[in-house]
Amino acid sequence: MSYADLRAFLADLGSDLLKVGQAFDPKHEMAALLRAMPANGPAVLFENVAGHPGARVVGNLVASRKRVAKALATSEAELAATYLQRTRQGIAPRQTSDAPVKEICHLAPADLGALLPVLTHYAGDGGPFITTGVVLCTDPLTGRRGMGIHRMMVKGGRRMGILLANPPLSTFLANAEAAGRPLDIAVALGVEPALLIAAVVKAGPLGPDKMDLAGALRGAPVDLIRAETVAVDVPARAEIVIEGRVLPGLREAEGPFGENTGYYFSNLSPVVEVTAVTHRRDFIYPALCPWTADVDALLSLAAGTELLGQLRTQMAGIADLDLTTGTCGFTAVIALAKARPTDVRRLIHLVFGMDKRVKLVTVVDDDVDVRDAREVSWALATRFQPDRDTVILSGMEGYVIDPSCGGGTGSRMGMDATRGSGPEFDKITIPAAAAAKARSVLAEIGFVAG
Ligand SMILES: Cc1cc2nc3c(=O)[nH]c(=O)nc-3n(C[C@H](O)[C@H](O)[C@H](O)COP(=O)(O)O)c2cc1C
Repeated sequence: MSYADLRAFLADLGSDLLKVGQAFDPKHEMAALLRAMPANGPAVLFENVAGHPGARVVGNLVASRKRVAKALATSEAELAATYLQRTRQGIAPRQTSDAPVKEICHLAPADLGALLPVLTHYAGDGGPFITTGVVLCTDPLTGRRGMGIHRMMVKGGRRMGILLANPPLSTFLANAEAAGRPLDIAVALGVEPALLIAAVVKAGPLGPDKMDLAGALRGAPVDLIRAETVAVDVPARAEIVIEGRVLPGLREAEGPFGENTGYYFSNLSPVVEVTAVTHRRDFIYPALCPWTADVDALLSLAAGTELLGQLRTQMAGIADLDLTTGTCGFTAVIALAKARPTDVRRLIHLVFGMDKRVKLVTVVDDDVDVRDAREVSWALATRFQPDRDTVILSGMEGYVIDPSCGGGTGSRMGMDATRGSGPEFDKITIPAAAAAKARSVLAEIGFVAG
């Protein structure tokens, strides 16, 4: 069921992988192509990377639900159910000595930027940023593993800035700093999609080990090996691993960086001193262009489906949930079967309690497709009265990259766009026989009916 590594997944994509032979520069040009990809377009492999002979860069990797489903060996229709069923029970990683990621080892590399084709994405970015690095470390107090994607600015030489805005890694750094010690980290680059998805699941501080979650998603343990210079276990079949230490007590300017919100965000952030880089001889560097379908797809499964599963443990009748594309997980639509107004209110409060990222939630009936913007707008236009059906909560925790919070607290809004009980809310329909005829005639001339 599982892919051994990123390159095994790429080898299986066939025509769903676009190979680009023309030279592309990691500075702006690659991001421009990734931004220009059509909806549900193929993954992209840049085979000719300007300034980095022999290196390849992959992007748009999980930008379609079809490819995410393929990565988990399931269908689009079964994606959420597969995720929820598999993640009920973790599969622990195992240690190995067979580690392609150690084929080449650079101890204390002089210039990280010369070694790796790190992309500069947007016009106002302050430099190249690693956007798809799975950052791994352990809590100096408890020994618990932490894992997440964190943006890293390549600053020259061996230094990187790292945005640690979320626990558990921000807590682990605080624990290391309280003891006056650096925090050992390793950054895995070019991992198979299941591991990438597991890294961004909102597991929470008491949640499962995300390496166990990755094993559960792929249906087989992740192979790990101890890093060369830091006390961290790393995925043995990654393409690249960067090892380093977050220096205690130090904060430096990091950014600007064109974020997943569609805006630049700068911060005073911790600093990493790189101690080693290991990689495969012919490594593939992974790109993830912010504010694209690639990010939407990651959030949809790791945050959206995870939230759906958590809500279902608290409430019956939740049919589906979608995080609206392009909103960085701030906007959710939930379909509820046989919705009563009191259920909808409870659901809205549950969502805001469970995911600090969600700011706007619309609840619809299960006759509305949560992924169809036209249907959701229709439900809001015809089943919703603003003064009667809106819930607003003030003084909530603001999300750090949301510019409208201005770095302080924020508010949340829930909208009840579920129907009233009368027949005037029944959707109009076409008789089944006439609809079937229309579909078959359109199919004969090569159209897929809407
Ligand atoms: C595309 C993407 C980029 C992210 N970048 C950052 C980041 O730069 N800094 C950060 O603190 N969290 C970032 N996150 C969130 C962390 O990975 C987060 O810790 C994780 O999604 C939730 O895991 P947790 O419950 O263990 O905190 C990002 C998430 C995604 C999906």
